[in-house]
Amino acid sequence: MKHYLEVQFTLSGPLPSESKGEIEELFKQFSEKTQESRDKGEFKITEWKTKETKLDITISSVDSLSPHVAVLRLRKQLSAVIGKKYRVGLRGFAFIKYIIETELEEKPVKEFTLPLVKNLEFFEEKGKSFVKIEIDPEIEEDFVEKGAIERIIRRVGEKISKQHYGAKKEHHQISWYSGEKKHHTEENPTQLMQNANWIQRTNYRNQWILSPTITALAEALKQIMIDYLYEPLGFNQMMIPKLVDWSIWLRSEHAEGIYQGGFEPYFVVQPKSADPEYFEEIADYITITKTIPTEKLAEKVSAPIGGLSYAQCPPFWSWLQGKTLAKESLPIKIFDWSGPTYRYESGSAYGFERVDELHRIETLFIGSPEQAKEIGIQVKDKLRIIFEEVLDLEVREAKVTPWWLQQSAHEDEMDTAEDLVVGTIDYEAYMPYRGSRKESEWLEIQNISIIGQKYPKGFSVKAEGNIELWSGCGGGSFERFLTAFISQKGLDKNNWPEKFMKYIDKLPEPVKFH
Ligand code: SER
Ligand code: ZN
Repeated sequence: MKHYLEVQFTLSGPLPSESKGEIEELFKQFSEKTQESRDKGEFKITEWKTKETKLDITISSVDSLSPHVAVLRLRKQLSAVIGKKYRVGLRGFAFIKYIIETELEEKPVKEFTLPLVKNLEFFEEKGKSFVKIEIDPEIEEDFVEKGAIERIIRRVGEKISKQHYGAKKEHHQISWYSGEKKHHTEENPTQLMQNANWIQRTNYRNQWILSPTITALAEALKQIMIDYLYEPLGFNQMMIPKLVDWSIWLRSEHAEGIYQGGFEPYFVVQPKSADPEYFEEIADYITITKTIPTEKLAEKVSAPIGGLSYAQCPPFWSWLQGKTLAKESLPIKIFDWSGPTYRYESGSAYGFERVDELHRIETLFIGSPEQAKEIGIQVKDKLRIIFEEVLDLEVREAKVTPWWLQQSAHEDEMDTAEDLVVGTIDYEAYMPYRGSRKESEWLEIQNISIIGQKYPKGFSVKAEGNIELWSGCGGGSFERFLTAFISQKGLDKNNWPEKFMKYIDKLPEPVKFH
């Protein structure tokens, strides 16, 4: 990797000429030491000059210390020398020019730009691909301190591999199948349920009203999950907040994947002021016109402060953030269905299987790697019993690209070892109305993952005695469970499995409309 940096320090006052010898010596020593500490590469402070309150330094390096790291170190050493003796302070630095040249594993499919980068130039030399990155001179000093330069370089590689990877198919390997089951309908389940007045669309995109009839079925499913999964495995219910501020999605890394194909949140805004006077004009307008002046309203609200819960797990972690868990509290096993979660499903209107407001059950567990692995497998086995035995569904399990790679849009390669422990398994149900088993798309109704250290690390959670912490989670929605169920079994209770019927005393009669 080649670097060329021209940097300018701002000083609190001019440097006296007698300081120059010392500064020269400091730079010389710095270069020599850097050179000595590495067996290869080249590091040089090629030039420096000072005029009034400015100190300009030029650094070039080849396969050696990065000049911006040198600048951070030099800043300390310089302050010590010129501060004490000459009472001149360092106010800060700015890049005049910073160019980084590095070899690429693959060449880009097409050119792109990056924030904090003035120019990106791709070129080839002797059959190899390279990039020349010119950092935006306006980059803030604290971004440089906190690793933005390193992340810019990494991001170039990530974006290129995504350009290639995007064309590849997502990982999907069927690992278990219930076998064929008898189905009782070939109708579209959304239409069946709509015609029976079990569900009704609202005025808002992909949002539904769940009538008493279907709510009774959702309640039955909840009880089944408690009896077959949560109760025997010792999971406790909790109520996780459903409004998520940016700090959480920053730690979970969801923010980095925003609208990149895996994470499509609803945004939340705040009023710029809650003063009645501030909104009086809007209130008057609505009263007189019976319409909402949305454009005007938009001027009175903040930029998004975060969004509505997308999955329960990220906001769950702020509970444990920065804490050290007592050994006796491990493993922690939680489930939550205390409120809906939200996803902005782009495209046209969908059926009940793809909703913007969904009623999800989240299963969460944290413990040592052994505990997490064991619980993950237990949960998977119980889910299989619920779907296959209790609901009598034709389902399969598939190892898929882990959701956190999709949602955070990071391109880490998944380990494809046969015995994969960290990863995601999806449960998929056959939907007869969509066509043959082989050719039609099956419906993903639930996932379960063993995630490893990602969340404990991201939220700085530790355990007593430095036990390594792993976590796992799973999500499923009533909308999906019921769509799959009705799609295979139809509306007639007589065709429903006995084990499920045990959980339904009396199905409320649908309200009829004339
Ligand atoms: N985090 C997983 C998902 O988003 C399970 O909650 O699907
Ligand atoms: Zn989750």
